[in-house]
Amino acid sequence: MVDAPRIFVTREVPETAIAHLLESLPDARIEMNREDRWLGAEELVARGRGANALICTLVDRIDRSVLTALAPDLKVVAAFAVGIDNIDLEAAAELNVRVTNTPDVLTEATAEVAVGLILACSRRLVEGDRLTRAGRFAGWTPLFHRGHGVYGKTLGIIGAGRIGWRVAATMRRGFDCEILVHSTRRHRDWEDDLGAAFTPLDTLLERSDFVSLHCPLTDRTRHLIDATAISRMKPTACLVNTARGAVVDEIALVRALERGEIGAAGLDVYEDEPRLAPGLSALDNVVVLPHIGSATHEARDAMGRLCAEAVVDVLSGRDPVNAVV
Ligand code: DGY
Repeated sequence: MVDAPRIFVTREVPETAIAHLLESLPDARIEMNREDRWLGAEELVARGRGANALICTLVDRIDRSVLTALAPDLKVVAAFAVGIDNIDLEAAAELNVRVTNTPDVLTEATAEVAVGLILACSRRLVEGDRLTRAGRFAGWTPLFHRGHGVYGKTLGIIGAGRIGWRVAATMRRGFDCEILVHSTRRHRDWEDDLGAAFTPLDTLLERSDFVSLHCPLTDRTRHLIDATAISRMKPTACLVNTARGAVVDEIALVRALERGEIGAAGLDVYEDEPRLAPGLSALDNVVVLPHIGSATHEARDAMGRLCAEAVVDVLSGRDPVNAVV
């Protein structure tokens, strides 16, 4: 149990988190960065020095140097995210810093965005909105603004986790899609409940009308979708990424979209956020969102609550529920 603990929150989070911290740890000193800007490593260390708990976002780089500078005071890093590729887990383990994340509570929210991108890309919804606003809708004609139907098509899911499952289930049950899935492990429930077929990556890319990415960013998945992978996709296929930008080689993707090698892309995440790859925003067959997968009031409140609970658990000497380290 840490007496009068110090907690540093790197970015403004929903009030539910702070309320829970104050209720459970009334002596805690909580400092939150309320400025609307990201703290670089140096500033994060300066402001976080002496903190026993850090609530951080996916934008903060919590690398070995940051962890070393904050240890041994620092007992827990509670990531306000499910993806934790920004945190050096090996260094955290060596320095006895627990790391937690926020799974489950953002599953539906993120799946909604992935399904939305599939629909938006295939039916050219955003492009249609743009042209209508610009006064370029000259009246209904049989050949105008046709897209591709979604119903009964083949959806390839890369990464058989919770979000991938929710997307697959929605598309299977709502749109009668055939589900192909590529994953490091085979899961019986995908086969039994969704009739999904576990397939090698190449087969999935060749056969899918939509490819939706739901794997974590690791050394193995960085640029998993590179020029060679894209070249295997159908010329009408749509690539959707709500996972992490660097799973896709964005330069190769832009080139393929420009040349019509694939049909469309729906992106919520980018390799170098918030910057977009050169040429991406000029393309009509792309829908680009500002990393809003988990951005619902419900999900973000719940994420804040999970971070606060993790901090309270660790500082009270308990094992946190969503520990990754
Ligand atoms: C996550 O939690 O990893 C999401 O990308 C947040 O929106």
